[in-house]
Order: sequence, then structure tokens, then C-alpha cells
Amino acid sequence: MSSTYDQVLYPSKAFQDTHPDRLASIATLHGLRPPTGSCRVLDVGCGDGSNVIPLAVALPGAHFVGIDLAARPVEMGQATIARLGLTNVDLHALDILDFPAHLGPFDYIVAHGFCSWVPPIVLDAFFALCQRHLTANGVVYASYNTYPEGHLRDATRRILRHPGEGTVAKGKEHLAAVRQRATHALWQSILDSEIQRLDARDENVTYHDELGDAYHCFYFADFIERAAPFGLQFLAESRLRPLLCPAHSREELAQPDEISFQQALDLHTFQGFRRTLLCRADLPIERGNFARHLPKLNLASPLRFVSRSANGAEIFRNDRAPGQVELNHPELLAILHRLEAVWPQAQPLANLLPTTPDPTVLDQILALAAASLVFLRSFDLPVAHTPAHRPIASPLARLQASAGPRLTTLLHTQVQFDEPSAREFLQLLDGTRATDSLGAGEAILTSLYRMGLMIA
Ligand SMILES: C[S@@+](CC[C@H](N)C(=O)[O-])C[C@H]1O[C@@H](n2cnc3c(N)ncnc32)[C@H](O)[C@@H]1O
Repeated sequence: MSSTYDQVLYPSKAFQDTHPDRLASIATLHGLRPPTGSCRVLDVGCGDGSNVIPLAVALPGAHFVGIDLAARPVEMGQATIARLGLTNVDLHALDILDFPAHLGPFDYIVAHGFCSWVPPIVLDAFFALCQRHLTANGVVYASYNTYPEGHLRDATRRILRHPGEGTVAKGKEHLAAVRQRATHALWQSILDSEIQRLDARDENVTYHDELGDAYHCFYFADFIERAAPFGLQFLAESRLRPLLCPAHSREELAQPDEISFQQALDLHTFQGFRRTLLCRADLPIERGNFARHLPKLNLASPLRFVSRSANGAEIFRNDRAPGQVELNHPELLAILHRLEAVWPQAQPLANLLPTTPDPTVLDQILALAAASLVFLRSFDLPVAHTPAHRPIASPLARLQASAGPRLTTLLHTQVQFDEPSAREFLQLLDGTRATDSLGAGEAILTSLYRMGLMIA
């Protein structure tokens, strides 16, 4: 049976928050022992495999399965897998309601953009699948739209789906007409920001995300309550930042338990989207003691030393985003210098830290990680940091470079190669050519290594 996702293709991509490495690192910080290395991963609602295929390329020792109701995107993903010759990933055109038991079990079950866009019976089938197929120490990732910001989305959706509109263009015309006649200043500014949000995004996304028949926002606490009968509990969010925001500490918000605290956070911060991790209800989760578990992880740092001032403080630049950071703890500075030399590779924190680390350093590493200035890792990524004699770029990035400007790195990030000559150059890096025959400057090759495009 053809679905709307067969008729109008959903432009998907790699989502860093879903990476098993991220899920494992967050779980480890909470005192759990998540599987690493040769794990099994399921991507539910995988579309054309834009998320799961790069993971399979970057983690050859793990096995990946993707399922999606829509056959056309799955066929596109299968064609990509065949062209890359990958043997550790399978995509199936499959309704989750018919999920066959032999495909499991899984250490990581990922559902990005799924839970808010399926009917309640399918959401329950997702939780039931997790209950049946998640391994004992496994982690589930589920993203979904949340209230209170969801109330604005509900209103926009109602206007876009005005009877007789039917298409994105018509819906947006109706939204603009409502804005034009809006009389209330607060409502005017809400409509302005909603129009801006929709104008900035691909219309195929709006077609499914806003106009689709299945659409649900959740209060966080309700989502967790819905998962509970399936033996699942809230572990954490996939991003560290909200966990470490001092203005909204648990003490500050005076909430009796983690769920009420998280729900209060959403109300204070006008949350509209969550990337929630769940695990089995019988696992003992240790909250708020990240520094204790941090040394079990690896650390990678893209920060580049810029200058040192007379008082010993050093300035580092983040060349993946604007801005600089000034740091002065000698233990931390020593770690960052060691990591700068090997980025994008990571090193075990146990090897980087002194035997009895200063707790301030651990807190500062966590704060840098929460700001995405450094990266906590649990898996070994096969990503190179120094130019090889015969360089090899990610086969997926090379394939993508033959088709367009957006490439996925081995770090599960996206980079944009607008220049056709840069894309042609990348395609030459298949391990058959010696560096000196490539005719590119050292700076260009180094930048490809720093982006995480080159295989170790
Ligand atoms: C909003 S898209 C998200 C796609 C992708 N995960 C992403 O975030 O870019 C939702 C996906 O869920 C799939 N889906 C919906 N109902 C499903 C079901 N019952 N079983 C399997 N997949 C389903 C759709 O076909 C679609 O590809």
C-alpha cells in the first residue's frame, strides 16, 4: 500500500543526536553500562536511510536495520547500500505493526521524527517493539514535539489545514491572510515567527510535518507515562546542555522527582521538541554525578589554540562555529593541547586526566561538552587525523559528492561542498592516488581531515 511518504519524498539527513556513540556516552554518564563496539541498531521510520547508512559506514563493526512503511524511500536507500557494497545494514519496507521477531534484538532503537507523526496505535507498537527487542542495557532514542511550544504549532497546523486548502502553498497563503487580518499584537508576532519558520524550510517537510493526518504534541510527563507500561523509563535527553543549565537546577525549580523537574524545565524554557532517551525500567540510573563517570569516556576536541595571555589564560577557537573560548586551568589546557593534535580522533579521558583529577576540570569538560565545544565518545570512530600516503575519503561522502553539495562526514555531521571542483577532488580520494600526485595544497587536505571526511 502506497503511503504519502511514497508520493512526496521526505528530505532526511543524519542526526548526530541519534548516534549510538552519543546514546552510549549519555548512558555512561548516568552510571549505566551501554553496549559499544559490535552492537545492533534499529532505525524506526528510517526513510531513505539518510541517518542509518552513514552510521553503518562509520561503525563497520556494528549492524544496522532500518524499517519504514514507505517502499519508495526504502528502495532508494537499498540502492545506496548496494552501490557502497555495505553488508552491515539492511533496510526493510515494513509497517511497524508487522515487525517480525527475527529482526531483533537491538542495543539501540532510534526513532527520529516518528512518535509525533504516527497514530496512537503505532506509537504503542513502537513502545511494544522496544519492550520486546531492546537488550538489557540498551538505549532507546525518541524525538517528539512537546508542549508548551506545541500549542503554537497546533494553531498553525489548524490554519494550514483549513478546509479546501490541501497543498502547502495554499495553506501558507491562508496563514498569510490570517496574519494580515490579525488584530492582536501578540498573535501578530506569533504568526510572523511561524511564517518565518515555515518559509525557511523545505516544503516537503511542511507537507508531512504540518499537513499530515497524524500529528501529536506531548507534555513530556505524558510521553513518559505512555512509555511506562512497556517497561521503559526516562533516562535523559540526548543533549547534555539542558541537563547542565545552572539557572534551572533541580534545587532551583524545587521539584520532587526527575519527571516533574523535566516537565517544569519545559514550561520554563517554552520547549517545543525533545530528544529523549529511554531504557529498561529495572536499570538503576544515577543522576547528577556525571563527574564520577566522565573518566570512563573518550574525549575529542576540535578547539584550536589561538593565543596565551600574560596571566596564563589561553584562547581557543572553535573552527566549526563562530566564537572563542578563554580557559585557564593548567590540567584542562594540557588536555586540549593533546587533543588538538589528534582531532577528529578521541583519546580515553583516563589517559588524559591525572590520577586524582581536580573536580573543577571535570566540570569544565562537561560544560564544554554541553556547549558542543568538545565531544564525549564511547565508540572508536575510524576517522583519520593525519594525511595518509594514499588518502581515502568516506565512500559515502564520495558517492554524495557525485550527486550534490551536501555530504555526511564520518562524525555524522553535514558539510556543504558548493564548489564543483572541491566535490571532484573529494571523489579522487579513493586510496589509489598518492598525496603528491593529487595536486592539492596541504591546507585543503588538512581541512578534509579536520571535517572528519577521511578514513583512518
Ligand atoms: C516524519 S518522517 C521521519 C523520517 C526520518 N526518521 C527523519 O527524521 O528524517 C516519518 C517516517 O515514519 C514512517 N512511518 C510512518 N508510519 C509508519 C509505520 N507504521 N511503520 C513504519 N514506518 C512508518 C514514514 O513512512 C516516514 O518515513
